[in-house]
Amino acid sequence: MSKGTYYITTPIYYPSGNMTIGHTYTTVAADTMTRFKKLQGYDAYFLTGTDEHGQKIEKKAAEAGVTPIQYVDKIVDETKQLWKLMNIEYDDFIRTSEERHTKIVQKIFRQFYEQGDIYKAEYEGMYCTPCESFWTPTQLVEKDEEKVCPDCGRPCQPMKEESYFFRMSKYQDWMIDYIETHPDFIQPAKRANEMLSNFLKPGLQDLCVSRTSVKWGIPVDFDPKHTVYVWIDALSNYITALGYGTDHDELFRKYWPADVHLVGKEIVRFHTIYWPIMLHALGLPLPKQVFGHGWLLFGADRMSKSKGNVVYPEPIVARYGVDALRYYLMREMPFGADGNYTNESFLTRMNADLANDLGNLVSRTVAMIEKYFDGVVPAWDSAAEEPVGADLRAHCAALPAAVEAQMDKLQFSQALTEIWKVVGECNKYIDMTQPWVLGRDPEKKGLLGNVLLTLAECVRFVAVLIGPVMPNTPVRIFEQLGLTDEALKTWDSLDCFGRLPDGIHVRKGEALFPRIDVKKELEALSGTPEKEEKKADKQEKKEQKKEDKAEKKEKKKPEIPEGCIGFDDFEKIKLCVARVITCERVEKSEKLLKFRLSLGDEERTVLSGIAKFHNPEDLIGKKLILLANLAPRKIMGIESQGMLLSAVKTNEDGSETLRLLTADPIMPDGAEIG
Ligand code: ME8
Ligand code: MG
Repeated sequence: MSKGTYYITTPIYYPSGNMTIGHTYTTVAADTMTRFKKLQGYDAYFLTGTDEHGQKIEKKAAEAGVTPIQYVDKIVDETKQLWKLMNIEYDDFIRTSEERHTKIVQKIFRQFYEQGDIYKAEYEGMYCTPCESFWTPTQLVEKDEEKVCPDCGRPCQPMKEESYFFRMSKYQDWMIDYIETHPDFIQPAKRANEMLSNFLKPGLQDLCVSRTSVKWGIPVDFDPKHTVYVWIDALSNYITALGYGTDHDELFRKYWPADVHLVGKEIVRFHTIYWPIMLHALGLPLPKQVFGHGWLLFGADRMSKSKGNVVYPEPIVARYGVDALRYYLMREMPFGADGNYTNESFLTRMNADLANDLGNLVSRTVAMIEKYFDGVVPAWDSAAEEPVGADLRAHCAALPAAVEAQMDKLQFSQALTEIWKVVGECNKYIDMTQPWVLGRDPEKKGLLGNVLLTLAECVRFVAVLIGPVMPNTPVRIFEQLGLTDEALKTWDSLDCFGRLPDGIHVRKGEALFPRIDVKKELEALSGTPEKEEKKADKQEKKEQKKEDKAEKKEKKKPEIPEGCIGFDDFEKIKLCVARVITCERVEKSEKLLKFRLSLGDEERTVLSGIAKFHNPEDLIGKKLILLANLAPRKIMGIESQGMLLSAVKTNEDGSETLRLLTADPIMPDGAEIG
């Protein structure tokens, strides 16, 4: 039975160029959420599509010497192929050039006009062509003595035209009140504050909603020299795709209002101000939530087609499979925050989380069942005590609820962290119980069976729960477990721990994620992002030169001068960014401060003898530099797990001043330093 409906959307993307890993990010997130909801028994509906009108596409097509529709048709085809490659299962793909969309947009526009929400007037202002946005003089920002677009930083041009305007100002107070009384509407919450203080509270301008300069658009049917402004056109897709305004509006009646619109943070404004006002003017309920996620950065910049610093998913998927990339995208950065895409972080995660943690767990579990039980999953032996695993079993039983709690907040990374905690605990459990030792003692057979059954059942839980993020991997895990009963691959089958039947035959297969040589792969991948390629190229040449020189001078490895360390030594040092969660004085100590630090995935306690120099309260929230792999040491009964770096100076009077080193606040917790 269905638990209810769930409607989720991505932005409809501009088919001005091929979709990048950034577009893939939002689309994978929406797909993951849809799969999760379907797994739980919801009737979920997932819409994506393309935003095809406007000047930018018009220009691109002209440059390519084709008509706009010819131009976008090709890119839409390629987009659909990419989504297929990424295992995206959307329920509908809307194109704004389709008649089912254009007809209804015209109807909506006419209704706005007839009810007085839209009026005609002369407009003069600064226009940003790439963003298709008019700006008032106060909204423009100054850059290199030029007034530029506040969204993209490119120059704007003066433009004058007779236009239709939407009376946004009329709805300003209603909109402010709505946002203030619906704290879940805009997520993350800080974006609601941005909307209120940057756009709504200073006064909402009426919005110019038609163009005479753009031919490639939806004509205003009662005044056809005007075309409908792309954002009015585009935003409407979320309801036109459901058949709103037609005789066949069953989907609309079933799924609207949307549960969530996923969007990048740069278009939150359109989705949380203009779109709600449009809906309100139509007498329709608002989407329950708009989630503005962060950007995948490339270096310091947002990846973007127009800036040309882009990573495309295809070569990555071709080499490592779709699940690895989906996992990385959902795991690497918290949904809402920005993060850097680098091949290195991708490859490192593949090795650590997928090959080592998950891959090893599955292969060890299956191999041991083969070795000690001829490949047959043993039955639970209640005569054999197995107290060590009680915590693990309880933890795993509670995992679905923990994952659900995170997923319901769209915290994909946290949900995966919860799953990987259990994976890690399983691997520890193997080390603790040492099945290979138990295997030598025939009297321990029952205990050994209980250990392996515990592991196999944990693997089943993990396989079911990673499915929404990595749809291919569970199939492979179930195959290795020999689990064929579909009923045991469901969300409902995780209602209690211990449903895995005994007697099924495991089958060792290929490694789920083979370990890779990061260095080699980096070289192979360096063709992907352009900049990196150049960088790597330069680096390679530089190194080659160095090597050549060194070879000529002496055929030996260069000796390390006294007092220096070699690069190998340096590589042993692990430095990272650590955020201070709490900081307090240590009782009975004048010197010591006790820190609780966040490294992203993990927390640490660290003591530091700096109480004379810093107020503990001032340090909370600061991003400090931690030497993370210093051997732990007990001081005054507290284990200190690392060392915080600081700088010291000696004053004229011989006293010292010390300050902890800090990192740029945009660096995420745990960011590696090197
Ligand atoms: O804005 N990091 O289309 P668009 C994270 N047509 N997300 C990224 C990203 C990156 N580097 N690059 C792209 C439009 N995205 C309009 C939308 S909706 C009614 C109309 C994702 O092709 C992210 O979701 O510029 C962002 O909001 C969207 O693609 C922008 O796609
Ligand atoms: Mg954009």
